[in-house]
Amino acid sequence: YPQAFIYDLDGVITDTAEFHFFAWKKLADGLGVSIDRQFNEQLKGISRMDSLEQILKLNSSLVRFTKEEKVNLANQKNVYYLELIESINSTNILPGIECLLKKNKELNIKVALGSASKNAVQVLNQLGLTKYFDFIVDASKVKKGKPNPETFTTAADHLGIPYSSCIGIEDAAAGIEAINEANMFSVGVGTIEHLSHADYLVGDTSKLVFEEIVKRYKEKTV
Ligand code: G6P
Ligand code: MG
Repeated sequence: YPQAFIYDLDGVITDTAEFHFFAWKKLADGLGVSIDRQFNEQLKGISRMDSLEQILKLNSSLVRFTKEEKVNLANQKNVYYLELIESINSTNILPGIECLLKKNKELNIKVALGSASKNAVQVLNQLGLTKYFDFIVDASKVKKGKPNPETFTTAADHLGIPYSSCIGIEDAAAGIEAINEANMFSVGVGTIEHLSHADYLVGDTSKLVFEEIVKRYKEKTV
């Protein structure tokens, strides 16, 4: 058996990836640039400031912003985001997730969060899922965000589990890259177009079935 499952938050545990997109879209609209879902794929898993930089790069007239103005823009995005997540609760947990978490606990498999979000603790609390987690890695705990493996290795190191015994679950290309770089088994939630490097890919979270994940993990490990 694998000894730890490390979950991404936004887009895996709950559909806040949508809310991040809406919030960025609102900010971008205000700056006179439009972003679509295709562009948004590259923002997934990336820190707030790095995401802003990606958006500002879309239009040469936006490079004029000072550091302070950029901080204000990033804060404004977060205000939009916080409005959107204000009312989320346990009904916003994506299908299959709580079942998988329960299965992990039943079998004494460690559970960690590996998120780039500064809002991760709040979101997990609102969903009522904090009790399942042995350790939470959020933006405050890492220096190098995804695709750097630090998010995932920090979780495994804290839990005292070898990387090769960890399974990481991600909806972002940057996240899958981070898991693979950490020498962990990567499970992607999404499409082959964006997540072709995942060791095992499912279309949506309802297909995250413990036995199947472990079967694929064992096939790769032996
Ligand atoms: C996650 C999401 C990103 C988001 C980042 C930072 O990785 O996938 O879309 O930009 O967290 O989130 P924050 O809540 O700190 O702005
Ligand atoms: Mg994600």
